[in-house]
Amino acid sequence: MCGIVGSISTKTNIIPILLDGLKTLEYRGYDSAGLSYIKDGNLTINKVKGRVKDLEKNIKKDAFSNIGIAHTRWATHGKVNEINAHPHHVGKITIVHNGIIENFNKLKHKLEDKGYKFKSESDTEIATGLLDYYYNKYQSIDKAIQKFIKKVDGSYAICLILDNEDAIYVIKKDSPLIIGKGKDENYIASDVPAILKYTKNYYILEDYEYGKVTNEKITIYDKDGNIIKKELKEYQGSTRTSDKGIYEHYMLKEIMEQNTTIRKTIDPYISSINDLLKLPDLTKYERIDIIACGTAMYAGLAAKYLFEEYTNTKCEVFLASEYRYQNNFLNDKVLSIFISQSGETADTLAALKKVKENKCDSLGIVNVKESSIARNIDKVLYTEAGTEIAVASTKAYTAQVALLSTLILAHAYRKQIFKEEKIIKILEEFKNIDQILKPILENTDLYKKIADEIYEKNDIFYIGRGLDYALAMEGALKLKEISYIHSEAYAAGELKHGTISLITQGTPVFASATNKKINSKTISNLKEVISRGAKCYLITDEDFKDNSIQLIKIKKVSMFLKPILTVIPYQLIAYYTAKLKGCDIDKPRNLAKSVTVE
Ligand code: AGP
Repeated sequence: MCGIVGSISTKTNIIPILLDGLKTLEYRGYDSAGLSYIKDGNLTINKVKGRVKDLEKNIKKDAFSNIGIAHTRWATHGKVNEINAHPHHVGKITIVHNGIIENFNKLKHKLEDKGYKFKSESDTEIATGLLDYYYNKYQSIDKAIQKFIKKVDGSYAICLILDNEDAIYVIKKDSPLIIGKGKDENYIASDVPAILKYTKNYYILEDYEYGKVTNEKITIYDKDGNIIKKELKEYQGSTRTSDKGIYEHYMLKEIMEQNTTIRKTIDPYISSINDLLKLPDLTKYERIDIIACGTAMYAGLAAKYLFEEYTNTKCEVFLASEYRYQNNFLNDKVLSIFISQSGETADTLAALKKVKENKCDSLGIVNVKESSIARNIDKVLYTEAGTEIAVASTKAYTAQVALLSTLILAHAYRKQIFKEEKIIKILEEFKNIDQILKPILENTDLYKKIADEIYEKNDIFYIGRGLDYALAMEGALKLKEISYIHSEAYAAGELKHGTISLITQGTPVFASATNKKINSKTISNLKEVISRGAKCYLITDEDFKDNSIQLIKIKKVSMFLKPILTVIPYQLIAYYTAKLKGCDIDKPRNLAKSVTVE
């Protein structure tokens, strides 16, 4: 997933617009950055290995242009270096690209047979060569693009400029791309936030569409070159660009604002049972499938437990990247729920396409308004976590769990499994979430103490049973993705079937025990690892005392809220551990916020 920005203007210097847009999109990938612009018929390309701020230092102070394209990269093909950075230039064509050209090898050999020589390891350079080849062959960029669309397999959002034309061309398949409409200037971006400073009005490109953008006109075509009319959208999200405020990192800010973001997400449904019943009626479905990636999938695992335990509904949870290649046993009695913070995750989008091809029902739990998943799904319920900048998801996860919990609560009521008074009691807890979370969020001295004990370790384990196993997965992912410490989640009962061989003196093992029916089993599993030298930490709402285990106490609440209370210590322990290690917490190495490639 990379960030793309383009701009063309009658008189404005668009170079600051490009750099500004890249900074907004840097969460999509930050291995390298580059831009190209044309001035008096001369093309300039500037690219660096590193961040946008490094690119900015490379741009001449007096650089001026009315047309340009820019890119911030998350490497898919080729090492992280300057030569593989975008933009790529071949012949008369310069492009920036987000996506993967899957048949790039075959195309590369064909182009080399025609005399093309390539300098980089990037599939994007091959795409540039292919466009240049067809442009020379047909002497028409439209024909070249139409041929490109026919010949290329894979995903692409491409911004293209020609050496000798005052226009930016765009091509889209699978990776998101929008065209912003301004006054005497127009913009292109992977995401609307990159151009919100300049316009709130934009067109969304759909697969196999391409466009020509000048400073006065935006024309969009289908893959055969027929002009198509598109609806001009107006951005509905908040235009306030979030800043870190008093916090050192976005991640800490986003962890701390969870008591408000959770309330914002579920407020429309928790004032009364009537409000709760505004949520979709799921009673016609015999099975609920949940499909997502990463943290969103772990939110789905928590929901699975609640669906099955409290509504007697079969619920299966799938990794989107696996789901799309499996037999999914779909029928009209199955509801497929897709969870995604960004709404742009390629694997999740591809799985959604499969459900829609099977004409089955789909429901989205999405954070970014008007995102690809939100636009393509039957019905969408938005989490109101606000823009999540830190690559490691925290407030989006708890908003997803809270929204799913209310959906499940409504389902339990409709299936007459929960009586009114029980529902009302749980809704009261939801209304009190900010007070309930406060002591957990404020217990930072304990989390810092634990971080100090573990930050130099090489292997850390997270265990749990049932809902606590889902939380162990999220806890392990939070730690490893920002501190780079190898950490693994295990079903508490499974550790002894092999992996316990890895436990040595001082190995940290985290557990949560929030289900009194099975907590004693988890405690026994902790004792098993303690007897082999492990240092154990236990998150629980039980009155429990054991000098050999560091306790992290949380308040007793219904199971519908427990995932939210339990995950916060895991989030903050991961944060303080990464801080002690001096890691780049908001932009961890190798990662990006929105994985729009497979
Ligand atoms: C979460 O901390 C990770 N950054 C990652 O696993 C993320 O949850 C996953 O890529 C799914 O993203 P989505 O919610 O935007 O679809």
